[in-house]
Amino acid sequence: MNVDDIETVAVLGAGNMGHGIAEVAALAGYDVRLRDINEELVEKGYDQLEWSVGKLEEKGQLTEEEAEAALDRVTTLVDVEETVSNTDVIIEVVPEKMDIKQDVYQEVEQYAPEEALFATNTSSLSITDLAEVTERPGQFCGMHFFNPPVRMQLVEVISGAHTDDETIETIEALAEAFGKTPVRVRKDSPGFIVNRILVPLMNEAAWLVEDDVATMAEVDSTTKFDMGLPMGSFELADQVGIDVGYHVLDYMHDVLGEAYAPCPLLESKVEAEELGKKTGKGFYDYE
Ligand code: CAA
Repeated sequence: MNVDDIETVAVLGAGNMGHGIAEVAALAGYDVRLRDINEELVEKGYDQLEWSVGKLEEKGQLTEEEAEAALDRVTTLVDVEETVSNTDVIIEVVPEKMDIKQDVYQEVEQYAPEEALFATNTSSLSITDLAEVTERPGQFCGMHFFNPPVRMQLVEVISGAHTDDETIETIEALAEAFGKTPVRVRKDSPGFIVNRILVPLMNEAAWLVEDDVATMAEVDSTTKFDMGLPMGSFELADQVGIDVGYHVLDYMHDVLGEAYAPCPLLESKVEAEELGKKTGKGFYDYE
């Protein structure tokens, strides 16, 4: 499929990343079908999307007409068949568990048009393993956005062992049509490029606090003011979700070895369900 053939994009999962990816696609002029497992979740995602579009309008980055047109392009759905039939590209953004994702693909496979491309927003899992349950591993690749998608320029495009070159080229062109800059990841490796660098940084920051070397504020001030990153390591963990970082590390630990063992401080936050901005409390408070 060529990028010019793409009109409709389905986004499966309306959470933190899903609603943001749906927003990016709608702003770029695509018809978007945003789906989650129940009305409540999909409406919550749509409300967040609407809030974000409103912010862009408030800041003069969109006119009222552009904002309204983008919102009109988004349909919210729960039924999988309705979501993916007659869709050109299906972007999966469901929880970061191999079995959950594979179950979703098996269901989607029954209704998706034969030529539709599948892309996963996984942060670290093997594209080859994820594609295995589909009947179209050649039409399957990674398309990894960053949080918040509407503000972050980069998209990693990742080949699995069986991904066709045409699929990669089309998904890269789609990322560009979304106004993003794609970077190709040539080997299917845990954490790809960005998380292989960023998540160990969050882990090391957590170890500094765990080992009483510094406070969170001290660590965050060095990441911001010395290393020049836009957020401190703990602020960033709260932004992406401590659970997301933890699951990426856990997977990297399994596949790549001991150097990636998650710090207990991250584990305790996940156990307490203090996951960052999305739960109102993480390393910092947001209420
Ligand atoms: N949509 C619209 N507006 C948004 C928004 C969104 N999704 N998120 C925040 N904003 C708004 C805020 O409400 C705030 O508005 P007000 O000024 O009205 O209060 C404003 O943007 C924040 O603007 P700031 O001037 O304070 O901040 P900024 O514009 O300089 O940058 C940022 C904000 C782009 C998030 C920046 O801090 C940044 O780049 N942070 C790093 C983020 C990052 O590295 N993300 C990648 C994480 S890794 C990942 O996601 C992958 C993974 O798999 C784990």
